[in-house]
Amino acid sequence: MNRLQRYATTVWIGITLVIAPGSAWAVQPTTIDKMELLNWTKVAPGVWQSRIGAKELAPLDYADAPKIEALESMGDAAFPFDPKATRGQIAAPHASVRLPLEPSEKVYGLGLEFEGLNRRGQVYHLKVDHYGGFKGATHAPVPFYISNKGYGVFINTARRPSFYPGISNRKDSHLPPVIDRTTGKGWSSKPLSDAVEASVQGEGLEVFVFGGRSPLEAVRRYNLYCGGGVLPPRWGLGFWHRVHTRFSAEDVMNEVAEFAKRDFPLDVLGLEPGWQDFAYPCSFDWDKGRFPDPKGFVGALRERGIFVNLWENPYIAPSSSIIDAMRPYTGSHTVWLGEVPDYTIPAAQKVLLDHHQKTHLDIGVSGYKFDEVDGVDNWLWPDHATFPSGTSAIQMRQVYGLMIQKMHMDRFRAMNQRTYGLVRSSNGGAPPQGFVIYSDYYGHEGYITALVNCSLAGVLWTPEIRSAGSPEEWVRRFQSVAFSPLMMLNAWSSGKKPWSFEPVTDMVRDVIQLRMRLLPYVYSAFYDYNQKGIPPFRAMILEAGFDTQEQMVGGALHDADNPYAETRRLESTDQYMMGPSILVAPVFKGQTSRKVVLPNGDWYDFYSGARVGGGETIEIEAPLERIPLLVKDGGIIPLMPAIPNVASAQGDLPLEVRHYGKKNGVFHLYDDDGTTFDFEKGAFSLTELRVTVQDGKPQGNVQQPQGPWPSRYGPIEWNFMTVKDK
Ligand code: GAL
Repeated sequence: MNRLQRYATTVWIGITLVIAPGSAWAVQPTTIDKMELLNWTKVAPGVWQSRIGAKELAPLDYADAPKIEALESMGDAAFPFDPKATRGQIAAPHASVRLPLEPSEKVYGLGLEFEGLNRRGQVYHLKVDHYGGFKGATHAPVPFYISNKGYGVFINTARRPSFYPGISNRKDSHLPPVIDRTTGKGWSSKPLSDAVEASVQGEGLEVFVFGGRSPLEAVRRYNLYCGGGVLPPRWGLGFWHRVHTRFSAEDVMNEVAEFAKRDFPLDVLGLEPGWQDFAYPCSFDWDKGRFPDPKGFVGALRERGIFVNLWENPYIAPSSSIIDAMRPYTGSHTVWLGEVPDYTIPAAQKVLLDHHQKTHLDIGVSGYKFDEVDGVDNWLWPDHATFPSGTSAIQMRQVYGLMIQKMHMDRFRAMNQRTYGLVRSSNGGAPPQGFVIYSDYYGHEGYITALVNCSLAGVLWTPEIRSAGSPEEWVRRFQSVAFSPLMMLNAWSSGKKPWSFEPVTDMVRDVIQLRMRLLPYVYSAFYDYNQKGIPPFRAMILEAGFDTQEQMVGGALHDADNPYAETRRLESTDQYMMGPSILVAPVFKGQTSRKVVLPNGDWYDFYSGARVGGGETIEIEAPLERIPLLVKDGGIIPLMPAIPNVASAQGDLPLEVRHYGKKNGVFHLYDDDGTTFDFEKGAFSLTELRVTVQDGKPQGNVQQPQGPWPSRYGPIEWNFMTVKDK
């Protein structure tokens, strides 16, 4: 080809590119009707699934089998959208979906957040991260949102999904009036949008819809579809103390003796990095200097009813006894110079689990705290790292904490031993995992918001205590953590003890003991989490009578013209429900009273039984020695004696059963062996506690325990807190 010919070809090609139909310049349709219609399959009553594109690694791969019977017993639900309005699209590099949203609808969820509740009108990029940075960068960016209309949507992806809930407007969607900003009124930088759109950079997306008549129903279906919520061992609901990282076995035994001497309960003793002979990265091997006889040490604590929990992070030290066996299964990059196992590979799981079983679990260790699984870009593996299974680094990071929980939980299950521990990252599918999330973030208010948001994401949260700037802050934080899924002092760095702030020592002991006394109530609430998917600690918007649907059907609306007014009132993030009938209202530094949003119906003071209000927002006194606790009308609360630890509370425990308000009430008191999975095969009992109020006179009835497990509760003393029986 001579120069002229080459020039002619170039010109000809250039002309073709411009005019030829079907070339790279051809016009692609950008309208909604050209997106794929989503095709929905019903996978359980009230649960639907759809997918566009390829099946990719996903969080629900790490869920347990759905609790189909429990879902069936909830009955069916209507599909919440017009199916023709649900669309998806693969347009490289993105896979996206679009689901309808009504103008006044609210969107909750999207995982663990330290701020706010309603996610509408804000973009969230969900990424497993330490915390902060941008909306959606969090320890548990669970891609699940819930509408106040009573349905939930879960995007089942291990990629980093972006959510546009009620924000961003397609040109051919229902658009609000277009306003000239110079002359018009009401111009908005975020015009109302009629959809939730979500996308990933990937080859496919799977979507689940959970129907319901209220947000609680949607959350319950999600939890049950993931296998039901965890039922922790009973001891897990007692008091946890994590000692200073440099503590030796001897230091621990001395500290434990102090707990007994000062009459402080102690159920779980947590060891921080220093139990290992190398940490950051981790050896997972006992330090023979500080812990010369691990078996004797763990055994000595067990004799005192105390369980040992071990801290670790996943990154393997060059000196670890498992490094050679693990090396074929580690990724390209290190974290703090420790190798990173690829736990999508079963052989890698086996190396770690066999080691842990032999050197930890077989000598009586009860569980773990899996730290640093959330990551921060500065120290974690980069997004371009490679792993031997071929799993991308982004996906690996997004579900790393989740897969670590699942593989350990499965090993505990194989040993028929329940566990309860901690983890610093999670994702969807986690409800059955016995691990509670915590953070290095330390805002007290944010901690309560996190607890509230976690209840919408199928994960548990502890507002752990590390230290405090004053006795007041110390006791207020203790009061909050005593009413959380895991009551813990994490003194890994501060070396603090519960009695470190002398002026409030008695108050701290009192609230720990109150939580211990409430164990029958809290344990039964966890059984409901397991069997019915009801979060034991939950946002007010999940409370029956709170949500718009119920308000519109039965209850009195606060603002008849605005059916969403009541929902908005209940979008509080500084109070929450514990179990069926206790409303917890934590108090923060500097407060001597606080506002409490009361749902409809009558509410009563836990301590006195007096009515405090109903269906209104009240100001309540908050003396330092007490956390405000309010009980719903008809609430029944069983309390056992204050005990040094749960393991020591066996056989014939006397119960004080309190009844609040004027309504009839019923409570199903759950009991089992407290440590194994035998309850799943029927080895449990439920005892019905019932109060009937007739002519102003309450009467308490106790049914015979139902089920083969002999209930450990003995004589019952009724305490009618509001309606006196005399
Ligand atoms: C942090 C963790 C703390 C403590 C510490 C030990 O990452 O959040 O709770 O375990 O590590 O080094």
